[in-house]
Amino acid sequence: MPDQCGKPELRDCGSQSEPNSRFSDENGYRSFQMKLFRDSCWEALAHWKPVVWHWYDRRTPIPKLSRCAVSVASLPVEPFDLVIFGGTGDLAIRKLLPALYHRYIDGQIRPESRIVGVAREALDDDGYRTQVRAAVEGAVDHVVPATLDSFLKMVGYRPLDARKADGWDDFAAMLGTQPDHVRVFYLSTSPELFVDICERLGGYGLNGDNARVVLEKPIGRDLASANVINDAVGRFFAESQIYRIDHYLGKETVQNLLALRFGNALFEPLWNSAHIDHVQITVAETLGVGRRGSYYDRAGALRDMVQNHILQLLCMVAMEPPASLAPDAVRDEKLKVLRSLRPINDSNAAQLTVRGQYRAGAADGQGVPGYLEELGEKESRTETFVALKAEIGNWRWAGVPFYLRTGKRLPSRVSEIVVTFRALPHSIFDPSSGPLLPNRLTVRLQPDEGVKLWLTIKHPGPGGLRLRHVPLDMTFASAFGVQQPDAYERLLLDVVRGNPTLFMRRDEVEAAWKWAGPILEAWEASGDTPKAYTAGTWGPSAAVALIERDGRNWTEDAP
Ligand code: BG6
Repeated sequence: MPDQCGKPELRDCGSQSEPNSRFSDENGYRSFQMKLFRDSCWEALAHWKPVVWHWYDRRTPIPKLSRCAVSVASLPVEPFDLVIFGGTGDLAIRKLLPALYHRYIDGQIRPESRIVGVAREALDDDGYRTQVRAAVEGAVDHVVPATLDSFLKMVGYRPLDARKADGWDDFAAMLGTQPDHVRVFYLSTSPELFVDICERLGGYGLNGDNARVVLEKPIGRDLASANVINDAVGRFFAESQIYRIDHYLGKETVQNLLALRFGNALFEPLWNSAHIDHVQITVAETLGVGRRGSYYDRAGALRDMVQNHILQLLCMVAMEPPASLAPDAVRDEKLKVLRSLRPINDSNAAQLTVRGQYRAGAADGQGVPGYLEELGEKESRTETFVALKAEIGNWRWAGVPFYLRTGKRLPSRVSEIVVTFRALPHSIFDPSSGPLLPNRLTVRLQPDEGVKLWLTIKHPGPGGLRLRHVPLDMTFASAFGVQQPDAYERLLLDVVRGNPTLFMRRDEVEAAWKWAGPILEAWEASGDTPKAYTAGTWGPSAAVALIERDGRNWTEDAP
């Protein structure tokens, strides 16, 4: 009887707020009994959801990769009210709302939760739901209409301007109707509005113990402006209530670095300068800045990607083993890495950094405009590409370069961390056997998330001992038969759960700015402009020279 066991009905079976709930007061259940039953229903659903989904999916073509078995043990979180300031913006529409839908169909969001978009546009609930429906349909394969309809029942909208009083009384009253819900205020707005929004929330007493505030990057443009924001938000929310999001920390492969490094006996003894030659971190994008030009031109690649995402990746690679996964244990170790980064300033920035800006070229076989044309400006000194050589001045990493590179309009979309081990001290093989290449560990964040460990083996068969460098290749999709959840899925629910492990603490943000600030100042002081590169290439040739000077190459990890 698949229809009776379909997911939407199971989901609704314990909901008090559903008009057709089987367990309304009329049926004689006292409310505490209803809650107990509902909780056990949800837990059962969480355990049985792969089976239920399989049943349900059989009525429609089964997608090759099922998202539904992603996390068999994922339990529902407690009911929450999530308010997205900037609810009609790009991030909310492209990422946050589809992520919430995925968590909803995976059984983790209870239907009594509420998701409220807030922006200045004069929309009503229905108008916003239409936008959210389009966003989810655009972002998610195989949307089941019934599940989308029930998801949309949780979604509402409030037109508010952080700088005007109109509508705030009504908004606060609406939240007040569910005082026990966890309250999450997601500030997906320009950082200039963070303080106004927090002041309003504080003024209405919406910053109680059950409230959390999520700050999207960029947090400031430099250390001073980050401090202003952090101080101001800190007047209304305790540090334990503030979640500074870096979505790279929510990517499965990044979390998998923790498992790889600290869940295997193999790597940790070798994870140091005695055995590792160098590390490369590449985050390459094929897209240009598109419609984000006005934001991007004030930021640039160093602020947009390096100060946060890439430094966080570097921390995950380089940190000492934390004593546990407790939030502060992990964040304390990351902080030590950030504080150990060797300064790059006007004395060495010209040797250690390269900036670029794309000119017209090609992407995916199509001609594409340059950065200035996209921006509609005649000139700009904003970098759309950065390559740099970082070093960590501590016992473990002394002398091991970390080559970091990121850019827009590069030839392919690829994000990966490549750890290259030192060459063997001596070869017992005849040179005719082939080259003995160093072992390499590649952690691929996107696309095709996975891990490759490059080893030397003998080519099979007769014909002498011929050496080959081949990867032990573990692609998550083929190993587990699932698509990876989007980073925001994990992080949004971590906020509701009150788990800040994968969020940046204030001192981390400060340490990252203390390192990045002098690079920006050195560039500014030099008066140089970024070097031009053609869209669809790997950045300016100086980026190649940066690593080749050290006798190394950027790794293209094709088998
Ligand atoms: C954002 C940056 O934080 O990360 C964007 O502001 C960038 O410029 C994006 O495109 C990249 O994220 P992802 O997850 O697509 O690699």
